[in-house]
Amino acid sequence: MHEELGQNVLLEESILIDPNDEKKGRILLLLINRPDKLNALNKYVSSELKEVAKRVMEDDTIRVVIFGGSAPKPPLEGKKSKPYSFVAGADISEFKDKKSEEIFEIFSNNCWEAIWNIEKPTIAMIDGFALGGGCELAMSCDIRIATGRSVFGQPEINLGLIPGGGGTQRLTHLVGYGKSLELILSGKFIDAEEAYSFGLINHICNPEELKEKTIELATLIGSKSSHTLSIAKKAVRVALNTPIDEGILKELRVFSDLFDTEDKEIGVNAFLERKTPQWKGR
Ligand code: COA
Repeated sequence: MHEELGQNVLLEESILIDPNDEKKGRILLLLINRPDKLNALNKYVSSELKEVAKRVMEDDTIRVVIFGGSAPKPPLEGKKSKPYSFVAGADISEFKDKKSEEIFEIFSNNCWEAIWNIEKPTIAMIDGFALGGGCELAMSCDIRIATGRSVFGQPEINLGLIPGGGGTQRLTHLVGYGKSLELILSGKFIDAEEAYSFGLINHICNPEELKEKTIELATLIGSKSSHTLSIAKKAVRVALNTPIDEGILKELRVFSDLFDTEDKEIGVNAFLERKTPQWKGR
């Protein structure tokens, strides 16, 4: 566990999918906890995120993972409060005096890719700034839910840089070539309404309901067969880098394979008998 000034850089909360049945698994809610630095991703946070991504894959009880940012602390007397932030990017102070080879090594094994590679459903719960590496972190998740006061952007161009956490690729897949280049070339900030209007985020809600809405969706997703969820995620990923005809054939293969699983029998029988399916996860 990494600490900064005596405080853990990643906070965890565990939420049961069904409070009456532990066997149905849990949602892991993770909060990046550097509110004084707007939750910027420094080497400690990055390393914690990579660790947690590994742990999530090894722990069968975790069904869905939510990533968020810690809220600002109450300000010291006479000081103004820091703004709300999901993640305001990679920690820019760690860029100083770094040269290409060192950065290449650091970014080759990065937290964005670790999160992207989690084979379970992931949700970004966004309240405030989601900039640069923060926007990239949100895009490494499967689904994004944000408050109306959230702000998005890829401002690396202002540092003489471009996104390096997968932003040029994932943003283009998510919102298309024109919008992606507009954000990356201008470095401008956009509000949640605009981000929603072209599909960068899935939902907008009020700050008071963000956690509840996110957990509601995570619970709904987490109540499905864990095996089928992982197959569904893999199948949709195929669409990102496969011609459609080939992708459809791959879908047919994995769809058919599901007919040999216990969970398909359980799901179909539960429907026919008007019961709730009790998934086995296989
Ligand atoms: N890396 C490191 N520190 C950061 C940071 C980042 N990406 N974003 C914010 N911070 C720090 C600030 O340095 C400041 O620290 P301090 O109080 O110790 O001086 C603190 O977080 C609060 O930020 P501040 O800039 O004072 O808040 P603001 O409300 O005036 O502005 C932003 C908010 C988000 C507009 C501004 O912080 C910003 O532009 N951040 C960088 C965004 C960016 O370029 N991200 C991409 C990086 S690759």
